[in-house]
Amino acid sequence: MKILFIGDVTGSPGRETVQEYLPKLKDKYRPNLTIINGENAASGKGITEKIYKQFLEWGANVITMGNHTWDKKEIFEFIDDAKNMIRPANFPEGTPGKGITYVNLNGTEIAVINMQGRTFMAPLEDPFRKMDELIDEAKERTNIIFVDFHAEVTSEKQAMGWYVDGRVSAVVGTHTHTQTADERILPQGTAYITDVGMTGPYDGILGVERDAVMKRFLTSLPVRFEITTQGRKQLNGFVVTIDNNSGKATKVERILINDDHPFFG
Ligand SMILES: [Fe+2]
Ligand SMILES: [Fe+2]
Repeated sequence: MKILFIGDVTGSPGRETVQEYLPKLKDKYRPNLTIINGENAASGKGITEKIYKQFLEWGANVITMGNHTWDKKEIFEFIDDAKNMIRPANFPEGTPGKGITYVNLNGTEIAVINMQGRTFMAPLEDPFRKMDELIDEAKERTNIIFVDFHAEVTSEKQAMGWYVDGRVSAVVGTHTHTQTADERILPQGTAYITDVGMTGPYDGILGVERDAVMKRFLTSLPVRFEITTQGRKQLNGFVVTIDNNSGKATKVERILINDDHPFFG
């Protein structure tokens, strides 16, 4: 079983890059399942139903979210019907949507979990205890468990990787929009990367217009952050190969596509 994951798709540049490269990535890696983090897909803030459906049309199976889940108000109208979308599982009890979903591929079931960190982020429920709970639930059905851990700090993400090592197939970090080069398989068989990175503008600051971000740092004045819509683009992703019976990872590959790291099909 191969799973392809694409990091935080940001604004129209991100969506255009997914549309262009997803067929090429599918040709190259032949994934059985494709997961996209879509928390920034609508001009950097949240996701719309139209974009969600577009991602599925383009070949994604599951869309994960993060701290930007609620940015577009229309999310509340479709999240409960969006069976292939998950938001962080440790949002407070009673929050719309769900944090775990199961995909059935010809009789093989895959659990996908979305979780959010708490350090330098909104104070959600404990992601570690919540992970224990969801792993126990998923293990009743399958050993193949994929986790998108949406968190700010490297230490919390590394802690999560080690905490669930051997219990899930993969933990990929998202949220920082900056790819880390530490992809590996932990000793008990869990694939890990601290952050997959971002898919969208290549020359912005985390995808945002540079001038606004610099003004913020230079003046501390409030500024409006807009996604860089012109210019070069990038795609950041991750591919994991998993043994179907044990659920353990056997191979990890990091995907980085931009003008400095061209794609070879
Ligand atoms: Fe993001
Ligand atoms: Fe985020």
